[in-house]
Parts: sequence; structure tokens; C-alpha cells
Amino acid sequence: MSDTRLCPQRLGYVHLKVKDLDESLAFWTRAVPLEISARQGSKVYLRGGMQHHWMVLEQSPEPGLGRIALEVENRAELDAFEAHLKVLGIKAQAGDGLDTDRVDRYLRFNDPSGNPLELYCDMVAMPNPPQARTVQLLDIQHVVLAAGDTRAATAFYRDVVGMRESDWVERDVCFLHMKNGWHHGIGVGSFGGAASGLNHICFQPPGLDDVMRARANVRKLGYTITMDLLRHAPSTSVGFYFAGPDTVAEMSFGARHFTEDAPPKPRLLARGLDTIDVWQQGLVDNEQSVIDELRKMAERQQATGGA
Ligand SMILES: [Fe+2]
Repeated sequence: MSDTRLCPQRLGYVHLKVKDLDESLAFWTRAVPLEISARQGSKVYLRGGMQHHWMVLEQSPEPGLGRIALEVENRAELDAFEAHLKVLGIKAQAGDGLDTDRVDRYLRFNDPSGNPLELYCDMVAMPNPPQARTVQLLDIQHVVLAAGDTRAATAFYRDVVGMRESDWVERDVCFLHMKNGWHHGIGVGSFGGAASGLNHICFQPPGLDDVMRARANVRKLGYTITMDLLRHAPSTSVGFYFAGPDTVAEMSFGARHFTEDAPPKPRLLARGLDTIDVWQQGLVDNEQSVIDELRKMAERQQATGGA
């Protein structure tokens, strides 16, 4: 192993249980846009790069988050994680999912809020890139998860999963990064009172042109933009959010990037509209207006599927 610190490399894929597969596919293949790599029973695998999938959609009478899967470097690290979880008394299911899930070895367990997680080491690789699309995507970059207790969730992702804190917003939300160094691979926080579940998934286009093409496409398709173009203060990324039938998706580029030998000192940022969007500086003139705006924003994300 090139680095003995236990920590996933990157967000690998998101498995969503969906109530209407056709409706979900229309969103995830056109508005995001991903490409179908395989169908397997009630599951459809979607990719945006050379990996077999970035998402799995599974028709289910109980829609919701199936799991968040994080890629680790190799089998040795996965085995070390298995031993680490055992020492900590965390129950995990280990298995071989090459035929059933297109990942070789996996470990599955829950975070303290009940969000299902997976660590895996090898996913089937595709022989060719996806067909050229108008909107290019570099990677599936991060998810934000609802947590009943943000401090406990942060401690879990730091001490159990091995991620590093990047920034906090008050003690409401914490962003943590993995070895690939993007400002956050996972964010945890309390959103509209939800104790668990998926708040949104972010995809990373290479730059502003692709973000703007994605936005024009989403507008043309008629999906709801829940937060329009903004620049986040914690990550410095520029992007927008839009709602599909299963959750909210985000397209953003320009996030801060950390290296292994220079991890950041996590900041404790103030809650505020200009923390969510630095371009809002000076546009809201009193604290109550800020609180009202933040509440409306959370309700809008929640109402349009971001739970
Ligand atoms: Fe995000």
C-alpha cells in the first residue's frame, strides 16, 4: 500500500432505491447526464467515466438511500478496515460482490445516523469511455448526508472511516475529505430536521462552460433548479442545484483541493447566506432576514426531494 493511513480514495458510487425506474432514468441519463452501463434485474448501473458505475438505481417499493460506497486503494487496506471495525465493535457485513454488484470485495455497515455505507476495493472497469456528451463530467464528487447528531457523525467519518475535516459551518454542518483531496467527499449535517438520508449528490464538470451547459439543459428539460448559480464559501466551488425524482443533484467545479502532506486546519465558518453563496455578501441586511432565507432554502431543498 502506498499510504498506510486508512482512508478511502474517493466517493465511488451511490445506490438509490427508486419508486419509478423509468422516471428516475430519464433524470439521471438526461439532466445529469450519465450513461447506462448495464441492467441487472431491477437494477440499472450508470456511469460517467471508466468505472463500471457511479450510480445504481434499483426499483423498490421502499425508495430511499441504498448505500454510499467509498473506494479504497486495495484489498490490503480493505482487510485492515475490516480489522479496524472489529476492534471498534462496529458490525460490518463483508462479501464478494463481483457477480451481484460489480465490485469485488466489500464491507457494509451503517454510520451513527443509520446511513448505509460500503467500502470496496475493486470495481469492474469499462474498456471504453462513455460516449461524448455535451456536458462533460470528471467524477462523482461528493454527497451530503443528513445526520441526527452532526458532531457524532463527524467523529465517525473522521475516526472510523479515516476522513479529514475540511470545514465546519457553526457546528451544524461538517465537510470532510478523502485521499483524492477534494474539499469534501462527504458532508454531514442537520437539514430541515432530517435525522438520516441523502441531501444531495454532486457531480464535477471540468469548468464553467460545462456547468452552464448543464444548467441550460436542466432548464430546457424542465427540472426545478433549487439553488441557482452560486459560489460556496467553504469549498469555493461554483455550481447550481436541481431536483429530480429521487434527490437533489448538484453540478459544481472549482472546489478547493488538499494534498496529503498539507491537510487544512478546519475552519469554523459562520452560518449565513454569504457562507452558502459568497456573491450574496451585503444583500441581506439583518440577522432575522438571514435566518428566514436559510429556512426557506432548506425547505426548498427538502420539498423537492433532497431528503
Ligand atoms: Fe454539495
